[in-house]
Amino acid sequence: MSEGETLIRRTFPRGFVWGSATAAYQVEGAWAEDGKGESIWDRFSHTPGNIENGDTGDVACDHYHRWRADVGLMKELGLKAYRLSIAWPRILPSGRGQINQAGIDFYSRLVDALLEAGIDPYVTLYHWDLPQSLEDEGGWPKRMIVDAFVEYAGSVSRALGDRVRNWITLNEPFVSAFIGYHEGRHAPGRRNLPEALAASHHLMLSHGMAVPVIRENSPDGRVGITLNLSPQVAASQSTADHDQAVWQDGYVNRWFLDPLAGRGYPQDMVAGFGDAMAFAHPGDAERIAAPIDFLGVNYYSRGIARSTRVSEEENAPHTVLPSAEQTDMGWEVYPEGLYDLLERLHVDYAFPAIHITENGAAFPDQVGPDGKVDDPARLGYIRRHLEMVLKSIERGIPVEGYFVWSLFDNFEWAFGYSKRFGIVYVEYQTQKRIPKASAYWYQNVIASGHLEEPG
Ligand code: FCB
Repeated sequence: MSEGETLIRRTFPRGFVWGSATAAYQVEGAWAEDGKGESIWDRFSHTPGNIENGDTGDVACDHYHRWRADVGLMKELGLKAYRLSIAWPRILPSGRGQINQAGIDFYSRLVDALLEAGIDPYVTLYHWDLPQSLEDEGGWPKRMIVDAFVEYAGSVSRALGDRVRNWITLNEPFVSAFIGYHEGRHAPGRRNLPEALAASHHLMLSHGMAVPVIRENSPDGRVGITLNLSPQVAASQSTADHDQAVWQDGYVNRWFLDPLAGRGYPQDMVAGFGDAMAFAHPGDAERIAAPIDFLGVNYYSRGIARSTRVSEEENAPHTVLPSAEQTDMGWEVYPEGLYDLLERLHVDYAFPAIHITENGAAFPDQVGPDGKVDDPARLGYIRRHLEMVLKSIERGIPVEGYFVWSLFDNFEWAFGYSKRFGIVYVEYQTQKRIPKASAYWYQNVIASGHLEEPG
């Protein structure tokens, strides 16, 4: 908590959803087992030069084989919910058509085991592992992908819709579209802005068209989408920095929030991107705006916007400086940004409910001589962000759940295994799991419903 801030309430409401999150490619391994097709992340990580240390998700946390023990560990930690993602190429190895029953069976058993352990599954349909065969047909920039996604969403929701109550169509379409197709740091590694824009549109349209299909197959289900959102503040009072902040907010936040809320694409961004919107057909805007039950928010840090339009000498001196505290990703630790974001979402967009579907931090953890992993920086990070969640709830913002990213140390995309985000340490050579101090602390918070100072 920042200096001078008083917290009015330290107890979470009954029924608050306490969870932790992972994603299929980051934890499962078994990349070519039981009929699974190749994904763009298999292809990308197998291509030299893309991932730090040449790491791949071939084995990851071997969760595909260890899921039963992993569910046992979740139960021990007292988790009330677990956010997992489904690997599309396990269900439909070539993206559409023939269903791979072994893939369905894997997730069906996992869901049953979770429910038996009293843990509510929150299922994300797409956390970035597109079947490679669909990428070979053109991937997200091509409109054909929408039908393929709706078919996939239908297959999964038909199989699991009787038991899964919470559905998330997409994880971070911003990252899929712009990091995958524009910046090229993620699979499929393309660098083409018009393709990225088309990809973002087809992602959002896929989401909107999948919503009614999921509702039909899972009548008691609640459906949402997860966006990575962060407040963008100007580094100084200069007009150039102000404009830069508006642009970054448009790029990261409004490009996705506005169409979701039924406002269409933000006009300043459409103009800025050069009015290249031929991919948007009549009727798409309404489909994208299909009502959702909750918005999933992934928050890690804020952005500080500094213009490159004017030189440093011409620009005004910084009035906003990043806090000295950073995570191992180089991301500023800025819990207040979570409150700012939630307040803005509530005031500007008013989605019916919000889940924090990811929040957490990477630090270079080590196993101590006593075999334990002490991670005070991560514990403090989570605690301070939970304080902001409490503050939001107190002000009437409908935040219903919080999922720590991540349950396990895992394959952190382009960074491979070099970044550890878990509240549970994974010793990759042996696949041994060691809950870190933050996990035991979180266990206490869940059990008591209170925020406690680290002891
Ligand atoms: C998010 C991703 C998640 C994880 C965290 C650190 O962007 O959704 O898979 O990599 O960042």
